Amino acid sequence: NKKKIALIPGDGIGQEVIKQGVKVLKTVESLDENIEFEFTDFPWGCEYYLETGKMMAEDGLDQLSSFDSIYLGAVGYPTVPDHISLWDLLLKIRKGFDQYVNLRPVKLLHPGLTPLKGKSREDIDFLVIRENSEGEYSGKGDWLFEGNPEEVVLQTGVFSRKGTERIIRYAFEEARRQKKKLTSISKANALNYSMVFWDQVFNEVATDYPEVETESYLVDAASMFFVREPERFEIVVTSNLFGDILTDLGAAITGGLGVATGANINPEKKYPSMFEPVHGSAPDIAGKGLANPLAAIWSVAQMMDFFGEKQWSDKIEKTLEDVLVHESELTPDMGGKSTTDGLGDFFCLKLKEL
Ligand code: NAI
Ligand code: MG
Repeated sequence: NKKKIALIPGDGIGQEVIKQGVKVLKTVESLDENIEFEFTDFPWGCEYYLETGKMMAEDGLDQLSSFDSIYLGAVGYPTVPDHISLWDLLLKIRKGFDQYVNLRPVKLLHPGLTPLKGKSREDIDFLVIRENSEGEYSGKGDWLFEGNPEEVVLQTGVFSRKGTERIIRYAFEEARRQKKKLTSISKANALNYSMVFWDQVFNEVATDYPEVETESYLVDAASMFFVREPERFEIVVTSNLFGDILTDLGAAITGGLGVATGANINPEKKYPSMFEPVHGSAPDIAGKGLANPLAAIWSVAQMMDFFGEKQWSDKIEKTLEDVLVHESELTPDMGGKSTTDGLGDFFCLKLKEL
């Protein structure tokens, strides 16, 4: 059962945190005789761009296509425009490999991590399933009469039947599998085409899953409930833009960027899926051993889950909970004194003890 993993550490702290994630993967390998990983390093990112004029090799997607998963740190460099690093690597992979599901857990791993008063770990424990391929981020639009007083800019949301139905169906499958309530978040009162369609598809697909309890919220109300009553949510399905914004809010109520993870999934497994911490390359702290590796390590848990190794994703999450109790062993962003490397080692030690 050998899994081939493509490593794209990328830039800045991306390289530092992926190193810790690889340590965790190697620890899993050493503890489980049925698991074997093969790692291949890809030196792509902004430094590569400054040398070659490309963010990744010309045939980069071909090179990646035979892997079981991609483990990505972050890309971004102060001297390279962000739209280049984003579109020519990250979005190229997400789109090229049809990773149309974005999975972001909003789960409180330690009570001290939330700014919400009186909320416990049971209250903040849900999964956001974000549409990751079209919708408001279709890239379509128009710029008319530029510079004139009549100037008009259009940004088009594209909601295809196929694209909308597949993400909603994925969410229903997940809700049924986990025996959880499914909440759809949209905005049909104001977005009178796209979100009316979204709601319609949600209601249609729901008839195939009579055993799944459902709810629908408008996105503005939902954002209030994320903060005031997060216990309302179990599994959430929403569009690309709403999911992007809501999951940052989700990160904020569960400890911030140091512990936020996201998986980009191609459920059909026709192409590799990609696992990454939500944070960026953090040039302000890069190279100083200050980066918190826990988000990248949580991505490893998501990868294990995707590989069907649920026992290992559970163990990694459990170890995250254990580690977060030891404040002095954490990185400075969480009030600790440890380095990135030190926390990575401490994590592996705790994982072995479990
Ligand atoms: P960022 O996430 O890199 O940093 C925001 C703030 O959070 C900084 O103060 C940073 O020091 C802190 N921070 C982030 N991750 C941390 C960690 N693991 N441990 C401790 N502190 C952490 O976002 P920013 O500054 O907006 O972007 C920096 C670069 O990263 C840009 O070039 C941007 O385009 C890129 N970026 C790349 C992403 C990706 O590759 N997926 C995602 C977000 C940003
Ligand atoms: Mg975002």
